[in-house]
Amino acid sequence: MKLIRRKTDLRAITDGWRRAGETIGVVPTMGALHAGHLSLVKAASARADRVIVTLFVNPRQFNSPEDLAKYPRTEDSDAQKLAPFNIDLLYVPAPEEIYPEGFATTVSVSGVSEGLCGAARPGHFDGVATVVSKLLLQTDADCAFFGEKDYQQLQVVRRLARDLDLKTEIVGCPTVREADGLAMSSRNARLGDTARDTAQIVPRTLEAAINAIARGAPAADALDRARMALTDAGIEAIEYLELRSDPDLRLLTTADEPARLFIAAWLNGVRLIDNMQIARQTPDS
Ligand code: PAF
Repeated sequence: MKLIRRKTDLRAITDGWRRAGETIGVVPTMGALHAGHLSLVKAASARADRVIVTLFVNPRQFNSPEDLAKYPRTEDSDAQKLAPFNIDLLYVPAPEEIYPEGFATTVSVSGVSEGLCGAARPGHFDGVATVVSKLLLQTDADCAFFGEKDYQQLQVVRRLARDLDLKTEIVGCPTVREADGLAMSSRNARLGDTARDTAQIVPRTLEAAINAIARGAPAADALDRARMALTDAGIEAIEYLELRSDPDLRLLTTADEPARLFIAAWLNGVRLIDNMQIARQTPDS
């Protein structure tokens, strides 16, 4: 695995792969890699001849300087975690490779970026869309891999790739969970032991709610019960708990079309997000 920091070096390598007729798969990350990222790397290796993992802590998608400062930077241990996966390149762009002097372009996706995390984190998806557009173009990617844990991000990226005629196929991969169901996230490490234990209420409650809704319970009742269960268990604030259409993320009151349940909740100063699909009811189910 080669470590590259300059886009000209990156392009020299990807041009060589192109001449050899090889396909390129990319896994964009901000580092602090966990098993969720590694599942994306595995999916990329299965699909493409060459695999690039990018590692860039993108300042434009953070809402506060404190959150950006607190974000873990673990390049050496990330490289170690990738070693067994036989990837071709780890691209860790220097900041000016992404945002050169005078950078003045923002990629802004409307529709799917509104509501949910977009409402709570103004400008977040503009930062994501801008950096992902650049990373897909810089790496010349045929396919790029994103986790369904950040389902809204996945839909934002799909939309920008379609709208900008990027050749990159956007591949969504299932959320990887801890043994107790908590969705893997680089932020989980900041919970501390007690809150980490409490956090399992989030996937448990989500699962109970999607099952109730799939069995025909009115969504409003299922969501009320879920809010109560979360609050009773010690969740400090529920930023949103919403039923949304899949994949265009319209707010729904009933799950009579493909739908997912989305949550963002705060625990011990850490923002946890998760989402689960509502199983479709078939006439004989
Ligand atoms: O999901 C992430 O880690 C980031 O939002 C991404 C896609 C790497 C863009 O910075």
